[in-house]
Amino acid sequence: MKTVIVNGSPRKGNTLTAINAYVEGTGKDNDIEIIHADRLNISGCKGCGVCHCTNGCIAEDDTNATVDKIVAADMIIFATPVYWWGMTAQLKLVIDKCYCKGALLRAKKIGVLVVGGAPTDNIEYSLIKQQFKCIAEYLNWDIRFYKTYYATEKDDLAKNSAAIEELKKLSATRGLSHS
Ligand SMILES: Cc1cc2nc3c(=O)[nH]c(=O)nc-3n(C[C@H](O)[C@H](O)[C@H](O)COP(=O)(O)O)c2cc1C
Repeated sequence: MKTVIVNGSPRKGNTLTAINAYVEGTGKDNDIEIIHADRLNISGCKGCGVCHCTNGCIAEDDTNATVDKIVAADMIIFATPVYWWGMTAQLKLVIDKCYCKGALLRAKKIGVLVVGGAPTDNIEYSLIKQQFKCIAEYLNWDIRFYKTYYATEKDDLAKNSAAIEELKKLSATRGLSHS
């Protein structure tokens, strides 16, 4: 099973820690690629419609190569810090550009990892969850997990051993084993 993880964080901080713990938990035999959204050269969707949601984007940047990787995946994990009560612009940009092959993105397995500087009962986590639920309903996605973590300084999550253990077990209990 091919998994693509889209990392929405621009820094080597908590989101990357969460991703690394998840990947460690999957073991060696899994086919996982991490896409670092902040390193891509992707322009915003202009809504031109030339793609017809199947043909790819006319932009000559990293859009098509990135979207093709996502389309080819069985499972997509979106990982993001909370920025202003939502996902980061970097992750949203990638999701927006998935429109260019949106018709090919149906029925994927999905995981969502969210790290914020506020405790996880704050509204940003449910706002982001709601957004992913709407996308999932539209594209018939199966959301396998939605996990939220409270961490502010870059290394906060790494110090949270319970969170790291949970992330390592996530693939076995709710992700890859449910293929
Ligand atoms: C521009 C910006 C906006 C932020 N907005 C929020 C927010 O609305 N809610 C929240 O809980 N944390 C917010 N944070 C805190 C980050 O989500 C938090 O520090 C997170 O751990 C960063 O993840 P990273 O280390 O992977 O980059 C914000 C941080 C930045 C830089």
